[in-house]
Amino acid sequence: MTAFPEQFLWGAASAAYQVEGGHDADGKGPSIWDLYAHLPGTTHEGTNGDLAADHYHRFKEDVALMAEQGLTSYRFSIAWTRLFPAGRGAVNPAGVAFYHALIDELLRHNIKPMITLYHWDLPQALQDIGGWESRETVDAFADYAELCYREFGAKAELWATFNETVVFIGMGYITGAHPPGVRDPARALQACHHVFLAHARAVQRFRELKQDGLVRHDAVIGFVNVLQPHASASDRPEDIAARALADGCFTHWFYDPVLRGEYPAELLQWAQEALGAPLFAPGDTELLKANLCDFIGVNYYKRELVAANPDVDNTRINTSGEKGSGREFGFRGLFKLVRNPSGEYTDWDWEIYPRGLTEGILQLKARYGNVPVYITENGLGAKDPIIDGEVVDDARIDYLARHLKAAADAIAAGADVRGYYPWSFTDLLSWLNGYQKQYGFVYIDRDNHLARQRKKSFFWYQEVIRSHGAGL
Ligand code: BG6
Repeated sequence: MTAFPEQFLWGAASAAYQVEGGHDADGKGPSIWDLYAHLPGTTHEGTNGDLAADHYHRFKEDVALMAEQGLTSYRFSIAWTRLFPAGRGAVNPAGVAFYHALIDELLRHNIKPMITLYHWDLPQALQDIGGWESRETVDAFADYAELCYREFGAKAELWATFNETVVFIGMGYITGAHPPGVRDPARALQACHHVFLAHARAVQRFRELKQDGLVRHDAVIGFVNVLQPHASASDRPEDIAARALADGCFTHWFYDPVLRGEYPAELLQWAQEALGAPLFAPGDTELLKANLCDFIGVNYYKRELVAANPDVDNTRINTSGEKGSGREFGFRGLFKLVRNPSGEYTDWDWEIYPRGLTEGILQLKARYGNVPVYITENGLGAKDPIIDGEVVDDARIDYLARHLKAAADAIAAGADVRGYYPWSFTDLLSWLNGYQKQYGFVYIDRDNHLARQRKKSFFWYQEVIRSHGAGL
């Protein structure tokens, strides 16, 4: 017996900067990450994505492995700077050709592409004119999206505009750990507003081009968000209030604009009064309202316990992989994320809590109705053991199996979950944690010319796919 619908997609995921390498190959322009990762002290031991898994040159080998594993879909992102080296203006034909070749290779193996348009690698040339703080970037994104639809719209049916806005805006403009390294909540909210507008503009163009027959008639477009359910650390009223605030700031702020076309009203009022942002221009409200998602992508790794926070002012996270080395994360006066004393944790101090996937999806269903859901990321970051030359990643198998069962529980409870994309297909660059934090089904031997090696989990997932999840 399988709990998964017949059309359920068995995927795996990646992102351009984390796998492609070829950072300046064939006319590609620099992205903010190409520069930022080379600044001293920004990433774990100075790691960067210059070479990554060299997927840019080895994609055929990677797709052959996907086909061998049995994937029916593959989620990847397009590097904006390969298509438009300066973010806008002249198109780079070699970049366009690369994604045609990748997509064709996937289709040849009956693997459906799921294309993410933006997984954090903004063209540096656009950062130079203000990045997401500028409405010119919104225009440039709409044009970039349109080029992608015109080129690849006849081939791909699954599209997502942005990946995890809470992370690239939160870390780019509040904690300052991602580029552009700003720490200013008001600027964060304005940049974030422009991302929502860029999303809406891209959805609008998608539908126009679909109408014109340039995008497949069955194609759909969505937005990928972090799914991080919160629980209050205790039933003290102040902790319950803190949890509601965390829900508002981390979840509703990012889901409401793309699924309801508006911000959570109370929070918006608070933000505009306290911080003076986000500022709206005429037409913004209507644009958001008119361009809701066809589906939502959810990236689930962990849940968080939330408590009232009179004291902690820390936004640094564990990037070492030494369990317990992380400090409490919190915004003083608002809320903090606290450790669950009876919780199970990864070496990066992320709580392993499979039920959170079920709970989170059902919370979305309660708030937004039965919108189609793709689990666009889920996975275990670990330093995998190698025993007698084999990568024996039993912990990953256990993690994924339990989360797949949790996905099945959400489906049994009525949620419309249509696919599962573990993070990640091959090992890849973790933005701040380097190559030591592995997620893949395929090990990349960095001491041996990036040789690909199937891990134990590769074969485990192969069997899950073959049985359509029956043996879980
Ligand atoms: C998500 C991102 O935040 O989680 C991925 O979409 C990222 O790009 C993944 O790699 C895992 O996070 P980390 O920090 O462990 O690499």
